[in-house]
Amino acid sequence: MKFMVRKQLGHLLVILVVLIVMLWMHRTVKEAAIQAVVKTLRNERENKEATLREKMEEEKVTAVQKATTGCPLKVPEWARDTNSDSLAKDFINGSGGLTDKSTSHRYQIMYHRYLSPIMIRFSQPKFRMLEIGLGCGPTGGMGTNTKPGGSTLAWKHIFSFSTIELDLHVLEYDAECASKWEKENPGIATKIHSGDASSTEDLERVYRDSGGLPFDMIIDDASHLNEHQIFTFLHMIQYVSKGGFYVIEDIHSSCASWLANTGSKPTGKIVQGTKGCMETATGNPTIFSKLIEWQKPLLIKKSPFPDVTSIEISLEAAVITKQY
Ligand SMILES: C[S@@+](CC[C@H](N)C(=O)[O-])C[C@H]1O[C@@H](n2cnc3c(N)ncnc32)[C@H](O)[C@@H]1O
Repeated sequence: MKFMVRKQLGHLLVILVVLIVMLWMHRTVKEAAIQAVVKTLRNERENKEATLREKMEEEKVTAVQKATTGCPLKVPEWARDTNSDSLAKDFINGSGGLTDKSTSHRYQIMYHRYLSPIMIRFSQPKFRMLEIGLGCGPTGGMGTNTKPGGSTLAWKHIFSFSTIELDLHVLEYDAECASKWEKENPGIATKIHSGDASSTEDLERVYRDSGGLPFDMIIDDASHLNEHQIFTFLHMIQYVSKGGFYVIEDIHSSCASWLANTGSKPTGKIVQGTKGCMETATGNPTIFSKLIEWQKPLLIKKSPFPDVTSIEISLEAAVITKQY
């Protein structure tokens, strides 16, 4: 009797072991299959992006050739000026006084320096731009203004004097405000995307929905929370084209604190800058401390991020440039 029980137990054990091995093999095979599918999809995406980039480069050359043989190029007055006064006026006039870029800030100086050569050289027929922050919400960096869309209107106006076509994308957290503004202002931006600049998924969606091609200029004029400024830059710098640049506005968020603008539903979060500018009120790194950290490799001829060759601290802003 005892022998029979032991024998059956032995059989059961063998079956159990076989089952475990089969389960393990099934899982391994399944995982390998998933990995293979992911790899194929990634390769497909990379190939598609490479083809699109090549096509864009070819189009660039053809359009430049076309534009430079025959028809005269339109170079805006603000780009021909030796100083940035006209550009400052165009920010105000173009936005109907809605953006504070050349009023409480003096960003016209920085934008004049980086955008004028592009206008004068006409090295590209199209300029792909992404600005994060439409200007929704009652307070937070826009003075007494309560209307959104100031800088979007201003960019359209500023580029309207040029031969270069502006492909303007905006990312805004306040979805209701974004879709209302887009409906009321057709033809200004290529697309107003709604989403959160501190979310990888949303940033990836914006990149995909805007054509899956790098931007010539990305501007972060969103919450100004130090953690967001750092996060958004670290994710989006890969999507800046060669010869392009990434602008972070309001980096005095490292040295002062104010209520973050998060659209019409304020979260009550403050930007948390402190007197020393290196640590936030909760002991985390500020955007300024990160910019200094990223500048260090440049001192020894190394790029902190692929193709990045300069990090400039300007008036209340930073510009990170990629080599051509
Ligand atoms: C200072 S305003 C932008 C002003 C506008 N660029 C101008 O100059 O006219 C900041 C905007 O960023 C948006 N914002 C805040 N946090 C955001 C986030 N995490 N993602 C996307 N947009 C955000 C706010 O809702 C607000 O509309």
